[in-house]
Amino acid sequence: MAELLPLLRERRSIRVYDDTHVLADDELAVLLEAARWAPSAGNSQPWAFLVGRRGDDAHAAFVELLAPSVRRWAPAASALVFTLNQVASGPEDDALGYSDYAQYDLGQAVAHLTVQAAALGLGVHQFAAFDHDGLTALAGVPPHWRVTTGLAVGLAVESDLVPRTRRPVPDLAFGARFGDPVPLASAVVDLATEGLDGVEPTLGVDVGLRSE
Ligand SMILES: Cc1cc2nc3c(=O)[nH]c(=O)nc-3n(C[C@H](O)[C@H](O)[C@H](O)COP(=O)(O)O)c2cc1C
Repeated sequence: MAELLPLLRERRSIRVYDDTHVLADDELAVLLEAARWAPSAGNSQPWAFLVGRRGDDAHAAFVELLAPSVRRWAPAASALVFTLNQVASGPEDDALGYSDYAQYDLGQAVAHLTVQAAALGLGVHQFAAFDHDGLTALAGVPPHWRVTTGLAVGLAVESDLVPRTRRPVPDLAFGARFGDPVPLASAVVDLATEGLDGVEPTLGVDVGLRSE
């Protein structure tokens, strides 16, 4: 029976970090490398990252921009990483071409980073609740780039885990027409999600809270 990769199965958004853990240079480098090797439309690579590690000036400045809801847990993480995607071509002669898939591509790069972090035994919690305009000004972000999300990266020390849940596969995968049953035996669909469901939803509490 095909199985979900343990790294994907066990990944979760971390809410309690070890505030003594230090993200080593080689670990940070390989996380950025993982993002760098993500696929992108036309190889446009429309992503960029702002990085602060706990204890440095960038981190201290980033913490000031976090919404209260995120400030409760993110500062203890070993690093705060902010993600940017292109919104237009740059002015340089050799500028990367802009594609309408830039935000999609950034998300994929972050997914790579997240899985690489899991492989290092580290956790990532992505967040949108921070002062986007403040960070754009602080970091001097050029107009053809947009600050998109933040990532808290570090070592989890969670004991009181927040339950995870997902919509079932038949609700999100279809046949030829939207809403048609996915062409899979229902027993197989059930097996694929076994052990991951049956918990309270956590979705919907944070989306859109950009600077709360
Ligand atoms: C684009 C994006 C924005 C998010 N924003 C926040 C946020 O502002 N605050 C927060 O606590 N979690 C945030 N999350 C984390 C989600 O709530 C979390 O991924 C979701 O509940 C599923 O939980 P899991 O990652 O543990 O599976 C965000 C995740 C993504 C991908």
